[in-house]
Amino acid sequence: MKLERERALDHARDLVAAAWEEFDHARDIEPPISPELLATLDLPLPEAGIDVVAALDEAAEALDQSLAQARPRYLAYIGSSGLEIGALADLLAHSYDPNLALHAGAATLIEAQALRWTAEFVGFPAAGGSFTSGGTVSNVTALAAARERAVPGSRKSGTPPHAVAYCSADAHYSIVRAIELLGVGSDNLRAVPIDAHRRMRPDVLDEMIRADRASGRTPIAVVGTAGTTLTGAIDPLDAIADVCSEHGIWMHVDGAYGLPAASVMPERFAGLERADSVTVDAHKWMFVPKACGVVMVRDESVLAAAFGHETNYIPGTRNAVDVTLEYSRPLRALKLWLAFRVHGAAKFRESIARTMDHARTLHGMASERPGWKVGTEPELSITLMRYTGIDNAELVKRLQADGRVYISHAVVDGETWLRPCFTNPRTTGDDVQVLMDVADEVARA
Ligand SMILES: Cc1ncc(COP(=O)(O)O)c(C=O)c1O
Repeated sequence: MKLERERALDHARDLVAAAWEEFDHARDIEPPISPELLATLDLPLPEAGIDVVAALDEAAEALDQSLAQARPRYLAYIGSSGLEIGALADLLAHSYDPNLALHAGAATLIEAQALRWTAEFVGFPAAGGSFTSGGTVSNVTALAAARERAVPGSRKSGTPPHAVAYCSADAHYSIVRAIELLGVGSDNLRAVPIDAHRRMRPDVLDEMIRADRASGRTPIAVVGTAGTTLTGAIDPLDAIADVCSEHGIWMHVDGAYGLPAASVMPERFAGLERADSVTVDAHKWMFVPKACGVVMVRDESVLAAAFGHETNYIPGTRNAVDVTLEYSRPLRALKLWLAFRVHGAAKFRESIARTMDHARTLHGMASERPGWKVGTEPELSITLMRYTGIDNAELVKRLQADGRVYISHAVVDGETWLRPCFTNPRTTGDDVQVLMDVADEVARA
């Protein structure tokens, strides 16, 4: 048994080391799934096991034939990076497998400390919160607390039909989903118009709230986005906070993608410190592997008001299940804790700044290339660029099929753009150049 474990661990170590070494450089193609692997992936439930080394090899082969966000030229959507220390943290955490639903000794303290570090890193005065499976769960958690504060008792009696909420027209779909799940209904989620930089217009927000209040509606929350998924726009948080405080409405900031940039340019996120709740994903621009989201609140009691409960099998003292949506929870915080411990906050800031530089460099390159049109100067780490006179959605498909770079698209005001997003510290200046050259070559072809 012991020998078998050692053999498995030795082999897993070799596979991981080979993968890490490979991620240091881009590869020129995305290999198709081989017929042999397809056959393996069609096998029925195995009655008897096979040798662990052979099985690990199959798994590694399947991963090699998968889209890995850890690769330096994976620039689609908002990637995570599979940071090495984060992967090791997962192995350790999953080996001990503490349950963060309940008080779990030092593991609970690690989560609390990692939460404090995250709050300090982005500049939010958190009094409580938790690690979650990501932005979607963080947002629904925060909005559940907001609903309970706006309409006390609604967790029991149900959401009244007069409840409304507000977010920008470019807010992430997870806000819609949260509002639907909370029984407010997406018909009652107001899409506040945006300005020329795609930021929420606080003047219109104010008018919408006044009109809703006048007709007897109850606003439960305003969601400002600190880095939209589409273009990286940061809503004017301070002005939104003014509106929220004037009307006594909960302000939530969805910074799942963009908030880590507050560590390098806090002035662009001014007003963040006035929010009631904040979402940030460590598995996006804080580099650790999925899934690692963080939700933070400025008043510790609000989560317990929304989630606290008693059961006849959990001790009466407050446990994590009384402030979270989930029950069984892994120690997600360990990967961020170890990443901060090993690399330090300064290294994080350096990597964030470098990825923002990549976006600006690419913007500069594309603006000088004949045939290319660029969007506004990147606010965060997303560059919008399109080749004129061709179907850019088709161009994205062709680039994905080409395999040298992997990007996705954005439809902005009906026009399709290439939308590379830089969140991976492994991406180099050379990779940015290759992206430009390959995009140009494929567009001209
Ligand atoms: C602004 C924003 N909010 C929320 C989410 C959802 O996060 P997750 O995929 O971690 O649930 C995303 C994902 O891209 C996002 O960009």
